Amino acid sequence: MRSKVSVIGAGNVGATCAFRIAEQGYADVVMLDILEGVPQGKALDMLQAAPIIDTDALITGTNDYADTAGSEIVVITSGMPRKPGMSRDDLVKVNADIVKQVTENVVKHSPDCIIILVSNPLDAMVQMALHVSGFPRSRVLGQSGVLDSARFRTFLAQELNVSVEDVFACVLGGHGDTMVPVPRLSTIGGVPITDLLSQERIDAIVERTVKGGAEIVALLKTGSAYYAPGTAAAQMVDAILLDRKKILPTATRLEGEYGINNIVVGVPAKLGKAGIEQVMEIQLTSEESASLKKSADAVQALNTVMGI
Ligand code: LAC
Repeated sequence: MRSKVSVIGAGNVGATCAFRIAEQGYADVVMLDILEGVPQGKALDMLQAAPIIDTDALITGTNDYADTAGSEIVVITSGMPRKPGMSRDDLVKVNADIVKQVTENVVKHSPDCIIILVSNPLDAMVQMALHVSGFPRSRVLGQSGVLDSARFRTFLAQELNVSVEDVFACVLGGHGDTMVPVPRLSTIGGVPITDLLSQERIDAIVERTVKGGAEIVALLKTGSAYYAPGTAAAQMVDAILLDRKKILPTATRLEGEYGINNIVVGVPAKLGKAGIEQVMEIQLTSEESASLKKSADAVQALNTVMGI
């Protein structure tokens, strides 16, 4: 029997994520949006691709939360994307209201689900969904680090002309301008990049990683990235549904780890059937630790704006 996953928001990120999940074949996917016809139309289009990609997964589109009932995982992508010149934090007021309403509806119909947030500003939206759902932190998490580390990996692989598969990249912190790529713990075939690249090149790649989303917003002009963000969320769904115990960078509410309390930021976590099964604590240098705290402070400032 296939699992059930719902994706809220049938925009570019939601649709990419839904399609990537359906492609795997082990979950039926319900795509929900407030726009009438859009989730239905996109779902029908995807369903017609099913014979070509050889999947029997059902993909349905709806405007009614009742159709999401009993989902094991719900991915929330709803909200406004950035426009050129905007930071993710500029979206906090409008998207907090949207995520609040969406979470209330999701929880009503799938009280046992695991929620993965993708809406921005990501860490604050995880905090909002935790607040509204009352779920434990193991069941409300955010996608950002998989994307940010994938960007870091992409740029490193290009720089060193190696397969992306051999690149491991560590990115901690919030999904914003204060994110913390950690070169010391980023490796090519097990060798730290600090042994392979000059400080100048590392700084340039780190800078491009931090501004990776903005680079795409500036190019697209009318929206933000979606192939990589949607695919990243689908990887987290995969890790949980298949109980893979994968260690993925995950936005989670820290409860004393890294000296941070009750603030959502990205750190490595073990993802399996129960959601977040373990928050991994890496030994950081004092400089890295200070950067992570600075990032947490930026997230806390948004929590204050949201009044939670
Ligand atoms: C990005 C947006 C989706 O980083 O947060 O591209």
